[in-house]
Amino acid sequence: MAASFLCYDRIFLDSFFEKIKPQGHLVTGMEPDDFLFVGGEFYYDDQWKTELPCFPAKDTIFLNGGKACLTVICDYLRDHNIRRVLLPAYLCPTIVDTFESCGLSCDYYNILPSFTIDIKDLERQLRDKQAIYFINYFGFAHSPSTLNYLSRLRRAGRILIEDNAQAGFLTDTTGDFAFNSMRKLCPFDGGYLKTEHDIKPYLTAYKGIENRRLPLIRQYRSQLRDYLFEDIGDRESLEALFEQAELFYVHDRVVLGDEQERQEIEHLDWSAIKQVRRQNYTSLLKSISGIIAISPIFPALQPGNMPLGLPVYVSNGLRDQLNEYLGENGIGLTIHWEDLLSDPRLNGNAIAVEMTRNILTLAIDQYTSQKQLNFLSLKLAEFFAGVSPS
Ligand SMILES: Cc1ncc(COP(=O)(O)O)c(C=O)c1O
Repeated sequence: MAASFLCYDRIFLDSFFEKIKPQGHLVTGMEPDDFLFVGGEFYYDDQWKTELPCFPAKDTIFLNGGKACLTVICDYLRDHNIRRVLLPAYLCPTIVDTFESCGLSCDYYNILPSFTIDIKDLERQLRDKQAIYFINYFGFAHSPSTLNYLSRLRRAGRILIEDNAQAGFLTDTTGDFAFNSMRKLCPFDGGYLKTEHDIKPYLTAYKGIENRRLPLIRQYRSQLRDYLFEDIGDRESLEALFEQAELFYVHDRVVLGDEQERQEIEHLDWSAIKQVRRQNYTSLLKSISGIIAISPIFPALQPGNMPLGLPVYVSNGLRDQLNEYLGENGIGLTIHWEDLLSDPRLNGNAIAVEMTRNILTLAIDQYTSQKQLNFLSLKLAEFFAGVSPS
């Protein structure tokens, strides 16, 4: 079965490795999509490099990742005597960890199964001196009426934090603070923070903190490529490298971004990446439309958005069985956010628990070819037709 680590959005595909690398069998010389695996970690890939920087980073500050952006936002909140934050009940528990470790208390409002904000519940949960947090799930913006409502709260003096971690671009934002997480979208670390508030004074405290993760995750990303396509190295040491890198990420409070990572991110062809993600999304949406047991959560793209994945609900409690079947076939998908189920701070919310139990995010990223998408839809159809779900 595919294994997931912490709340990282990509997975290390165990069964895929077992499948493509049967004893003594060399994989040298194969093209990525010949493997027909779908999903899994980002490895370095020169295909997306471009000469001219093209990431829209105007009016942003480059930090180490989403967690770093949250850490600085917390510094600002505490400094302005705000000690509480109102979070969506459907979220990655690492977000709560970051707020709590920065000294803030967390309250929650309901997210509906359609991934829309339950405004009535949000209103019920409002308290004095409380910031409000919202997430643009999977790279999809909330409806204009929801955004109007949130803007009104901001005009009334609330600090609004917009989590754009899964959406990438920060060109059209509503919050006082908006940030993203680039490692969800490409093989580089970083998070852009956009705000009109002066956060520079908070950054000095983080100067000189060693980034222990970076050398490891870089090594991992290049060795993963070697392992997949050149048969160099072994799975166990790659897994150990990945886990250690993630542990450093969780435990170390690294805030400042790395310049080399920033250069790499900004020299990726983001318009091509967005186009491929959108094309993959549309194509997969079409090919799974006949499978009634699968319901796409966002049945259409929004103008100009860049989707993280294609999240679906799987009916009849079959999600885990399906995911296992796909894993056996070299398809590693992500469950957002499985850790919610075992987190006592979050698993009391019945709606969020139900969503987490049935959701599965289908891969549509720039590393996924049409051939792989076809394979994915074939396996999905096969599973529900009961052809060989053994
Ligand atoms: C919606 C969301 N926001 C923020 C974060 C934190 O981002 P990062 O992984 O860059 O620290 C995550 C991490 O999983 C996330 O899923």
